[in-house]
Amino acid sequence: MQEELVLSRKEGRVGILQLNRPAQLNALNDALMDALGAALLAMEKDDAIGCIILTGSAKAFAAGADISAMQPMTLSDVTRNNFIGRNWETILQVRKPVIAAVAGYALGGGCELAMMCDFIIAADNAKFGQPEIKIGIIPGAGGTQRLPRAVSKSKAMDMVLTGRMMDAQEAERAGLVSRIVPADKLEQEALDAATIIAGMSLPSVIAAKEAVNRAYETTLTEGVRFERRSFHALFATQDQKEGMKAFLEKRKPDFRHE
Ligand code: CAA
Repeated sequence: MQEELVLSRKEGRVGILQLNRPAQLNALNDALMDALGAALLAMEKDDAIGCIILTGSAKAFAAGADISAMQPMTLSDVTRNNFIGRNWETILQVRKPVIAAVAGYALGGGCELAMMCDFIIAADNAKFGQPEIKIGIIPGAGGTQRLPRAVSKSKAMDMVLTGRMMDAQEAERAGLVSRIVPADKLEQEALDAATIIAGMSLPSVIAAKEAVNRAYETTLTEGVRFERRSFHALFATQDQKEGMKAFLEKRKPDFRHE
C-alpha cells in the first residue's frame, strides 16, 4: 500500500499536517500538493480546529519541487497544466493561521511553501534557500516576491542569484523566521504557539491574519482603514463582550468563537 503523502492529526484545537516523503526529503510533487491542498481545506472547514501547523521531517521540511518530475516537462506541459498555479496556492485560501515548523532543509519550493504560511518557527538546524538558479530555472512559487518582502532586496537577491543557503540564525536575523528553537523541541514549541492561538476567539484570529496580510497588498492609509473596519466589526461578536468581561472579572475568557 502507498504511504500517505500528508499525515494529518489533531491535538486539542490544533491541526497538524506533516509532509511525508522523507526518502525524497519531502520533494513536492503534484500528488503531494493535491493531498496537502485537500488536507488544508478539510482543516479550514473543521470547526474544532483553530490553528494549523505544517511540518516536515527531522532532515527536511521540503527540499523543493520534485526535480525528477520536472526534468522532462516542456513549456507546453507546464503551461497547459498550470504547473504550480494549479495546486500550490490552496494554502492561501485558508483563513485560519498556518504555522510552518521547519527542521532541516527548506529549499526552493519548500522555502516558498514555508513563506506562504503565516509565520515560521525554525529548528536550530534549519536551512533556507532558493537554489533554483543552479538547475537552470528561477523560483516559481513566489520566492522572488515573498523573500524580498521578508528579508530585504539585497539578501533576497543574494539568495536567489547565488543559490546559497541561510542557516536558522541568519534567517532569524533577517526576519524570515519568527523564532528559533532546539531541534528536539520544535514540535512541542510549535504546538504550544498554535495552542495559544487556537484558544483565542476565532473571529478575531481570522481578522488579525487578514489585516496583517493586507499590509503586503496595499498602501498604509488603505491598510489602516481596513484594520479600523475589522476592529469595529469585532464589537459585534459575543467573544468581544466575553473577553473584556473576563478581563474585568479577573478570570479566563470562555470564548465560543462567535
Ligand atoms: N526533487 C527530487 N528529489 C529530491 C529533491 C528534489 N527537490 N531533493 C532531494 N531529493 C532526493 C535526492 O534525489 C535523493 O534521492 P535518492 O536517494 O533516490 O538519490 C534523496 O532525495 C536524498 O537527497 P540527497 O542524497 O541529495 O541528500 P543530501 O543530504 O546529500 O543533500 C540537499 C540534501 C542539499 C537538500 C540536496 O538533496 C539538494 O540539493 N536537493 C535539491 C534542492 C533544490 O534544488 N531545490 C529546488 C527545486 S526547484 C523548485 O523548487 C522550483 C520552485 O520554485 C517551485
